[in-house]
Amino acid sequence: MSAKRLYIKTFGCQMNVHDSERISGLLRNEGYRLTEKPEEADMIIVNTCNIREKSEQKGYSDLGRFAMLKRDKPDLILGMAGCVAQKDGEKVLKRYKGLDLVFGSSNIENVPQMIRTITLKAQPVVMVEEPPGPPKTTPADRKDRVRGWVSIMEGCDRHCAFCVVPTTRGRERSRPSAEIVQEVTHLAEAGYKEITLLGQTVNSYGKNLDEGLDFADLLRMLDAVDGIERIRFMSPHPCDMTLKLIEMMAELPKVCEYLHLPLQSGSDAVLARMGRGYTLSEYRQMTTRLGQWIPGLAFSTDIIIGFPGETEDDFQKTLDAVAEFEYDNVYYFNYSRRPNTPADRFEDQVPEEVKEARFERLSTLEKSLARQKNQVLIGTVQEVLVEGRSKRDRAKFTGRTRSNKLVHFESADDEIGQLLNIRIASAGSTCLEGIRIPSRSQ
Ligand code: SAH
Ligand code: F3S
Repeated sequence: MSAKRLYIKTFGCQMNVHDSERISGLLRNEGYRLTEKPEEADMIIVNTCNIREKSEQKGYSDLGRFAMLKRDKPDLILGMAGCVAQKDGEKVLKRYKGLDLVFGSSNIENVPQMIRTITLKAQPVVMVEEPPGPPKTTPADRKDRVRGWVSIMEGCDRHCAFCVVPTTRGRERSRPSAEIVQEVTHLAEAGYKEITLLGQTVNSYGKNLDEGLDFADLLRMLDAVDGIERIRFMSPHPCDMTLKLIEMMAELPKVCEYLHLPLQSGSDAVLARMGRGYTLSEYRQMTTRLGQWIPGLAFSTDIIIGFPGETEDDFQKTLDAVAEFEYDNVYYFNYSRRPNTPADRFEDQVPEEVKEARFERLSTLEKSLARQKNQVLIGTVQEVLVEGRSKRDRAKFTGRTRSNKLVHFESADDEIGQLLNIRIASAGSTCLEGIRIPSRSQ
């Protein structure tokens, strides 16, 4: 019998992308193989995101589009996963006739069982209850053969006033360290060279486990796994950047010189209303220490524009902070009102046109900063992990420096997964071009 085909459409963060890899890993065992074409699929899953209003709308409109395919193919199984599914649960079934499956991210491990129920009983299944205990280890169908994402914890116990994550992904739950080490060891054996540890506040790992270890201890355990050359993680919370963690990052050779440290705003008044738990000066102390202990450390950040009550003066402080910290990359978003979050009830909402104008100003600053930061690298030699052929120019290859910069260069298919020395020849705001130089051993 030929394999059944699965199409997954994914919205949102790396967590969601990795959740899709896990869904497809579990369904592979049930005889499903991924396809790029929704029209030839036997099962379609839309893995949704509701961090901002737009992402939620896009998920729903895709679901509507895929529901039409059922007219010609009544046996098609249609499912909705992720944060919108978690939030709307049963309600989605009423809105979309023909939907078979609705499940939250903490129910992924039950997907095979849910599919069997649908096929046997021919009735829809909704599963959005958070199961007790730590997240279960499941197989993942990873697309990349060199770099692997590893989820180390689920949920978030913080309560940033703008954010839906604590309600859609539940309480913070860490995976047992032995299971994480085992997963990373298997990745190394399969030829993976780089891992990125994922969690909503990845550096608060371990708090709710009774193992008595923290994120820094986990990094040490993973640094010892043979075959893995690079370790990254996303996203740490500034309040959990302990001295022990900074020391560990400085000491462990595989932990890369790159840190995504969300700032959100440069104004203390806004940070306090957001409930972020730090001031600008505390954030500054931390980045100064990090920069002193880890030479060449590159930073990136998240910024929210137009949080309720943000004045021109507050926004100017954000621009000043972005310039001061010389981020290598800034991810910035206009504030989006999310139902049932505290900030949605704040009175002084910022008009859309003001947000748009501020967005343009931050965008101009960010592009010129990124270009400057990249140009400094011209002439330097960078260690690059070869990822594969460039999507832009199939004759070239791409890879990243330890500081997470994308580089284009000439290479060969059999060098995918190797670390090469590349001399940077030119730089734009989003990537670098380089020429390979022979290593000493060659
Ligand atoms: N803990 C996660 C946060 C996930 S949300 C992490 O640190 O990556 C990712 C980013 O989306 C946040 O850092 C924030 O900048 C942005 N964001 C979250 N809620 C938002 C909202 N309501 N409107 C606009 N941007 C938001
Ligand atoms: Fe969201 Fe704040 Fe947690 S941004 S994921 S509530 S740390």
